[in-house]
Amino acid sequence: MEGLVKIRILLFSALVFLPAKVWCENNCVTCHEKLVPSPARAHSFQEWKDSVHSRKGIGCEKCHGGDPSETDRQKAHRPVLRSSEKESPVYFTRIPESCGSCHADEFSEFRKSYHYKELRRTGRGPNCVTCHGSMATHLLETKQMEETCSLCHAEPRSAGEALAAMNLAASALKEWEKNFEKARAQGGTTSADESLLKRQKTAFREVQKKWHAFSMGEVIRQAREIAEISKKEAQGLRLKGVR
Ligand code: HEC
Ligand code: HEC
Ligand code: HEC
Ligand code: HEC
Ligand code: HEC
Repeated sequence: MEGLVKIRILLFSALVFLPAKVWCENNCVTCHEKLVPSPARAHSFQEWKDSVHSRKGIGCEKCHGGDPSETDRQKAHRPVLRSSEKESPVYFTRIPESCGSCHADEFSEFRKSYHYKELRRTGRGPNCVTCHGSMATHLLETKQMEETCSLCHAEPRSAGEALAAMNLAASALKEWEKNFEKARAQGGTTSADESLLKRQKTAFREVQKKWHAFSMGEVIRQAREIAEISKKEAQGLRLKGVR
C-alpha cells in the first residue's frame, strides 16, 4: 500500500516537474535572453517573451529549427539559418507552411487564395507575418489593413470594412457572453440559450479562419450576422433584468 502511494507521489512529481525542467533546458532561450538586443529586422527576444507563443511554450526552435538541448551555439544552431536563406523555415515564401504546421485551418484557407499562389510563384502577396508579426503580437488596425491591401491593389479591397465587422462581432459576442453568465448565475437561462451562444461562437471561429481566403464580402456578411444575433440576444437577456 505504502509503495503504491510512493509511486503515485513519484509519478505526480514527474508530471509536475518534467515540463518545467525541459523548459529550463531550452538553451535557445537561456542564451538569447542574455544577448544584447540588436536592432533586428524581425522580432526581438522581448517580443517573443511577451507573446502568446512564449506563454504556450512555443520555443525558438519550433519556427527556426535547431536543437534546444545543446548549450554550444554552433551545435544548437545546426541547422538554424537566416531568414534570407531559401532553406530557412522562416524564408518568406515558406512562412505559411511553417506557421501552418500548427495553424492548419488558417493555412488551409490561405492556401486557397491567390496570395498563396502568387507567393509561391513570384514572392509577391501578403504573408502571415504581414498581418500578425512574426510573434503574433499584433493585428493590424482597420486603417492599416486597408493600407496593406493598397500596397498592391489599386481598387479598395474592403479589408478594413471586414475587419471592422469582425471587431464588432467580437465585442457583441463578448457582451452577450457576459450577460449570459450573469443571467445563468440567477438561473435565468435555458439550454437553448446556451446552445445558440455556442453556435455563434463557433461561427465566429469559422469567420476568423475564412478571413484567410480573402473573400472579404463573405466575411463581412457573416460577421455582421453574428453581430446582429449577439446584440439581439444580449439585449434580450438584459430585458430579463440582467445588469
Ligand atoms: C550559446 C548561445 C546560443 C544558443 C544556445 C543559441 N543561439 Fe542563436 N544566436 C546566438 C548569437 C550570439 C547569435 C548572433 C546574434 C547577433 O548577430 O546579434 C545568434 C543568432 C541567431 C539567429 C539569427 C540568425 C543567425 O544565424 O544569425 C537565430 C534565428 C537564432 N540564433 C536562433 C536560435 C535557436 C532557434 C536556438 C536554439 C535551437 C539558438 N539560437 C541557440 C547565440 C545562441
Ligand atoms: C512563431 C514563430 C517564431 C518563433 C517562436 C521565433 N521566431 Fe524568430 N523569426 C520568426 C520569423 C517568421 C522571422 C523572419 C522575419 C519575419 O519575417 O518576421 C524571424 C526572425 C528572427 C531573427 C532575425 C534574423 C533573421 O534570420 O531574420 C532572429 C535573431 C530570431 N528570429 C530569433 C529568435 C529567437 C531567439 C527566438 C526565441 C526566443 C525566436 N526567434 C522565436 C519566427 C519565429
Ligand atoms: C509549434 C506550433 C506553432 C507554430 C509553428 C506557430 N504557432 Fe501560432 N500559436 C500556437 C499556439 C499553441 C497558440 C496559442 C493558441 C491557443 O491557445 O489557442 C498560437 C497562437 C497564435 C495566434 C493567436 C494569437 C492570440 O492572441 O490569440 C496567432 C495569430 C498565431 N499564433 C500566428 C502564428 C504565426 C504567424 C506563425 C508563424 C510565424 C505561428 N503562429 C507559428 C502554436 C504555433
Ligand atoms: C491580411 C491579413 C492576414 C494574413 C495575411 C493572415 N492573417 Fe491570420 N488573421 C487575420 C485577421 C484579421 C484575423 C481575425 C482576428 C480577429 O478578429 O480575431 C486572423 C486570425 C488568425 C488566427 C486566430 C486568432 C485567434 O484569436 O484565435 C490565427 C491562428 C491566424 N490568424 C494565423 C494566421 C496564419 C498561420 C497565417 C498565414 C498562413 C495568417 N494568419 C495570415 C489577418 C491575417
Ligand atoms: C504584396 C502584395 C499584395 C498585398 C499586400 C495584397 N494582395 Fe491581394 N493579390 C496580390 C496579387 C499579386 C494577386 C493576384 C493577381 C491579381 O489578381 O491582382 C492578388 C489577388 C487578390 C484577390 C483575388 C483576385 C481578385 O481580384 O479577386 C483578392 C480577393 C485579394 N487579392 C484581396 C486582398 C486583400 C483583402 C488584401 C489586404 C488584406 C490584399 N489582397 C493584399 C497581391 C497582394
